[in-house]
Amino acid sequence: MDAPPILPPYRIKVVEPIPFLTAEDRRRALAEAGYNPFNLRADQITVDLLSDSGTGATSAAQEAAAAVGDESYAGARSWFRFCHELRELTEYPHILPVHQGRAGERILFTSLLKPGQICVSNTHFDTTHANVKLVGAEAVDLPCPEAADLDSHAPFKGNIDLDALEKLLTGPDGHRVGLVLMTITNNGLGAQPVSMANLTAVRDLCRRHEKPFFLDAARFAENAWLVGQREPEYRDWTPREIATRAFQLADGCVVSLKKDGLSAIGGFLGLRDDGLHAACEANLIATEGFSTYGGLAGHDLERLAQGLREVLDPAYLRARAASTARLAQMINDAGVDTVQPAGIHALYLNAGRLLPHLSPGEFPGHALGCQLYLDGGIRCAELGSLYLGGMNDEHRLVTPAPFELVRLAIPRRVYTDTHFEYVAAVLADIAKNPERVRGYRVVSSPPLLRHFKVRLAPADEKDVE
Ligand code: F0G
Repeated sequence: MDAPPILPPYRIKVVEPIPFLTAEDRRRALAEAGYNPFNLRADQITVDLLSDSGTGATSAAQEAAAAVGDESYAGARSWFRFCHELRELTEYPHILPVHQGRAGERILFTSLLKPGQICVSNTHFDTTHANVKLVGAEAVDLPCPEAADLDSHAPFKGNIDLDALEKLLTGPDGHRVGLVLMTITNNGLGAQPVSMANLTAVRDLCRRHEKPFFLDAARFAENAWLVGQREPEYRDWTPREIATRAFQLADGCVVSLKKDGLSAIGGFLGLRDDGLHAACEANLIATEGFSTYGGLAGHDLERLAQGLREVLDPAYLRARAASTARLAQMINDAGVDTVQPAGIHALYLNAGRLLPHLSPGEFPGHALGCQLYLDGGIRCAELGSLYLGGMNDEHRLVTPAPFELVRLAIPRRVYTDTHFEYVAAVLADIAKNPERVRGYRVVSSPPLLRHFKVRLAPADEKDVE
């Protein structure tokens, strides 16, 4: 008998209906949304792969814990449970709760970075980049060279380029580096993991140059799982042991718990330094809430404390990784290339390769995302020239992004393999006749974080707005 498929360690108890629209309704909905899927209403979407953030299903144990959430203003029982879980996991002496990751970024950067300083990363997530800029500092990405080859199966394409980091630290701008921030897994670069060897080398460089080293650890459990699978020295470690070791290598962390916290909302800062903790705590109390709730309700803290246990269950992580890998295989079999090797929280479609008839200025990644919606009610996000490219005042693309990708983010414990077969079938149909996919042009665009609020029109339709 062949090896049986890897089963998720749960069954479904509560379900939510999903909408099915006609093709004409989807066409109208997308036009009204200014051809930006962020502007669609969730009830216009059949399979929502826009984000894995805050979109997961909770467990019966999480909801049971939430029912006994303590909503006291200060010193709530739920806070102590949450704090205990995170102290055990990270071994940081100071834990500050925040309502989501970017609130933690703002608080950390305001306390740690000065205008003119540099924050250097393997890759900053978009809000992280924006928060660095908002304090007047500069965000510098130094991804490892293997990341530039989308087809390579190198195991740790999320790593930072250690030579480039050392050059920066020892070069003329070395004194400007105020923070080294490693994103695990590397969401901006294909959900690729970061190796423990890379984190250790970054720790050593930061020690030598006396620079603070932090983790952006939104997907700490998924990174730990991939380390256990791909880094031979860690083969016999549990995901929890690997995650704790990663936190130990750094001076602190900023974490969105909307991903591996298996909850709709939440985040935290983990800190070692007493002075930095005092500065961040004052900011937290002024802007998020008292330091025992930080903008979260007691029931949120309870769901998170329980979610943090469930997410490190090897059976859960194994099944989630296998499910994403199966979707990647179906998509590749349909003739659509994805960034290799498959990560866990998302798959990145190589739209540039699938749609060579579209120039970067017609936004092939965005065009493929729109087609997935038009044909199948599937929502996803572009990661290409619309998101990363440079534009002039007339909203024309002047500097294309290095790649034209589309991210299919996979919510946790939400969709079955049948939903994924559907996604692969819609993609296969597009891949049979890719020339029918139209390009787009930008009609209006905000100055910061363009992709959230940009409005577009099909490139071959003039004067629509
Ligand atoms: N860091 C990383 C690596 C992220 O992926 C995110 C969010 C954040 C920080 C910010 O956290 O949303 O809780 O404020 N990523 C989501 C995504 C939005 O879809 O990838 P947040």
